Amino acid sequence: MPKPIAGFSKLSKQEKIDWIVSNYIQHPDRGKEIITSYWNTDEKLQHLHDEFIENTFTNLYIPLGIAPNFLINDKLLAIPMAIEESSVVAAASKAAKFWLGRGGFKTKVLGTEKVGQVHFIFKGDTDKLNTFFTAISPKLFKATDSLTESMAKRGGGISKIELRDKTEDLANYYQLHCTFETKDAMGANFINSCLEQFASTLKSEALNYSLFSEAERQIEIVMSILSNYVPNCLVKAEVSCPVSELNLSTEITPEEFAQKMVRAVQIAKVEPYRAVTHNKGIMNGIDAVVLATGNDFRAIEAGVHAFASKDGKYSSLTHASVENDVFKFWIELPLALGTVGGLTKLHPMVKLNLELLNNPSAEELMQVIAVAGLAQNFAAVSSLVTTGIQKGHMKMHLMNILNQQGATESEKITVVEHFKTNTITHRSVIDVLTGLRKQS
Ligand code: MEV
Repeated sequence: MPKPIAGFSKLSKQEKIDWIVSNYIQHPDRGKEIITSYWNTDEKLQHLHDEFIENTFTNLYIPLGIAPNFLINDKLLAIPMAIEESSVVAAASKAAKFWLGRGGFKTKVLGTEKVGQVHFIFKGDTDKLNTFFTAISPKLFKATDSLTESMAKRGGGISKIELRDKTEDLANYYQLHCTFETKDAMGANFINSCLEQFASTLKSEALNYSLFSEAERQIEIVMSILSNYVPNCLVKAEVSCPVSELNLSTEITPEEFAQKMVRAVQIAKVEPYRAVTHNKGIMNGIDAVVLATGNDFRAIEAGVHAFASKDGKYSSLTHASVENDVFKFWIELPLALGTVGGLTKLHPMVKLNLELLNNPSAEELMQVIAVAGLAQNFAAVSSLVTTGIQKGHMKMHLMNILNQQGATESEKITVVEHFKTNTITHRSVIDVLTGLRKQS
């Protein structure tokens, strides 16, 4: 077993690699070869990446694909998607192309409010705390003037600070529940800085508040942090067309297709086991664009799944209806995104991806990403209710299997040709490849 190591972060990159391969890798030389083969040959670029995090020793590549033909509010976009799952970009492209001829996607931002909280313990009279809060509210705002100045110039800032009594949930627990507008920034640093200032003002003002008893003056700040639950930072994307135009399948009629889509969404609304997978498919599209545009996909995931449970039961993020022979399919979800700050201006590829999307504002990016989620869900559910997903999925996976088996380019061509008319399974691909190798 390797020994614990002190001062690891101080080692050079080479020393770190030596330590990794000698302690954990069975064939150290091969390990080093793999690690260094992922280094960027442009040393400046590699250095930039090295400095994004601590203890960087190499890079892990994720393919960056592009899904063209997205008509969004009458503008045509090609959407960059960073994802390793083989069928996702193909599915998005297919859905984009389908809706291109049917009016495209319509989107709307329903809200842009961000949230942060100061969590604190107050042992005393709630009425007195309320009076104290009303008295110090202007000071809470004033004390953040230097922090909010540049955000205010961009039209953002602190919208509201509320005192919330949470003592029914936890003894003596209160919070400052604060809302913010952060314009094109995701706003995490801005919000957290404001919250820490609120906490400090709250604490110091309490110490001097004459109506408090000695015990009441001792407010205990537990923590100050933004919330990734942003139910009022909401975006909607929608597609619709006459039912008769839903001619996706040769096996079922457009009417049957519409009915099955609606039924599939109803199931995802009432059955959490299905809803989780249904929403996972949506996140295939969302995360891929979030990642490609340098945004924080963990924050998005956390917020979206909490939103999916907002009515007390985990449910579908998409909705479907047929009314007056018109099929409608839409999504509503919270997306707190930034197109300035963070990696967005630092990472050359992220910058290029944003340029590819016409340098969107945060609100515009919310709409593009909601569309990517809706398109993904439309593609997945329409396959599920018709052919099943394995056909398309295995077609995309075929190349992975061939690469795993070390197939040559000419073997790949022959095997791909064979499976144009045959069912792909892992076994059948290996059998065909083995047969081919025996022949030659
Ligand atoms: C696979 O990554 C995503 C799907 O399972 C989504 C769904 O079932 O709706 C195909």
